[in-house]
Amino acid sequence: MHRAKPSDGIAWVTGASSGIGRAVALELARRGWRVALTARRVAELDALAAEIVALGGSAGVYPGDVTDRAAMAALAARIEVEHGAIALALLNAGGNFPSPRGEFVGENFRRTVALNADGVLNCLEPLLPRMSARRAGQVAVVASVAAYGGLPTAASYCMAKAGVVAMCEALKFDLDRVGVTIQVVCPGYVRTPLTDAQRQPKPFMIEADDAARRICDGLARGGFEIAFPRPMVWIVKALQALPYPLFFRLMARGSRRYA
Ligand SMILES: NC(=O)c1ccc[n+]([C@@H]2O[C@H](COP(=O)([O-])OP(=O)(O)OC[C@H]3O[C@@H](n4cnc5c(N)ncnc54)[C@H](OP(=O)(O)O)[C@@H]3O)[C@@H](O)[C@H]2O)c1
Repeated sequence: MHRAKPSDGIAWVTGASSGIGRAVALELARRGWRVALTARRVAELDALAAEIVALGGSAGVYPGDVTDRAAMAALAARIEVEHGAIALALLNAGGNFPSPRGEFVGENFRRTVALNADGVLNCLEPLLPRMSARRAGQVAVVASVAAYGGLPTAASYCMAKAGVVAMCEALKFDLDRVGVTIQVVCPGYVRTPLTDAQRQPKPFMIEADDAARRICDGLARGGFEIAFPRPMVWIVKALQALPYPLFFRLMARGSRRYA
C-alpha cells in the first residue's frame, strides 16, 4: 500500500474552513506537509493559511464549491501547476440536510447526496487519472459511522455516506493494481459546527484536534478504514450486525427518547 509522504508533493484538504478539515490541515502542516485548502468561505481559509504560515508551514488557498464539477477539475489542475503533484487528498467537505422528523423532503436528500457523494466524485474525477498515471497517490474520503447502515433521523446522510464507502471499497480493487491508495474515514461524533447544530445525545464525542491526530495517524499507517472512537464504532457495527427485528426494536426505543 502506497503511503504518501511530504516529499512526494502537496496535500489537498476539502472542507478546510472549519471542523475536522481545518484541524486535519493544521495537523498535516505540523507533520511537514504543504497543504492546499478548499472550501467556499475564503476568509476562513485565509485565516487558516496564515495560522499555518505562522507555525512555519506552507499553505495555498483554493476556494471552491465541491458540488461544482468543472470548478473542482480546474482547481485540481491549478494546484498541480502551482505546487506539483497532489500526493495526498483528504476529501472531507460534507454536511447534513435532514428532513424534519416524519417528513420526506426530496430536496434535502438531493442536497445531502450532491454534497457528500457528488462532491467526492467531482474531486476523484480529476485526481485518480493523475495519480494512476504516476502510479502513486493516496486519497482518503471522509464518510461516517452513519455509513454502516440506516440510523434514525439520518436517512439522507446514511444514504450518501454508505454509497461513498461502497464506492471506495469497489475502487480499491482497481487502485491497488496501479499503486494508488484509497481509504475511508468513519468518525463517530466530533465536536464541530456540524454537531453543534444537532440536539440529539452525542455519546463518546471527541474534539476536532483529537480527530485530526487520529486521521493523520491513520493516513500514515495505511489500512482501508480509519474509524474512531472505538466504542462508538463497535456499538454501531454490532447494532448493524443484529437481525433486523432486534435492530429496529432497539434503535426505535433509543431514538424515541429524543423525538
Ligand atoms: N462532526 C462529526 O461528528 C462528524 C462525524 C462523522 C463524519 N463527519 C464528516 O466530517 C466532514 C467534516 O464535517 P465537520 O463535522 O468538520 O463539519 P463542519 O465544521 O461543518 O465542516 C464542513 C466543511 O465542509 C465545507 N463545505 C460544506 N459545503 C461545501 C461545499 N459545497 N463545497 C466546499 N466545501 C463545503 C465547509 O466549508 P464552507 O462552508 O466554507 O464551504 C466546511 O469546511 C463531513 O464530511 C462530515 O459529514 C463529521
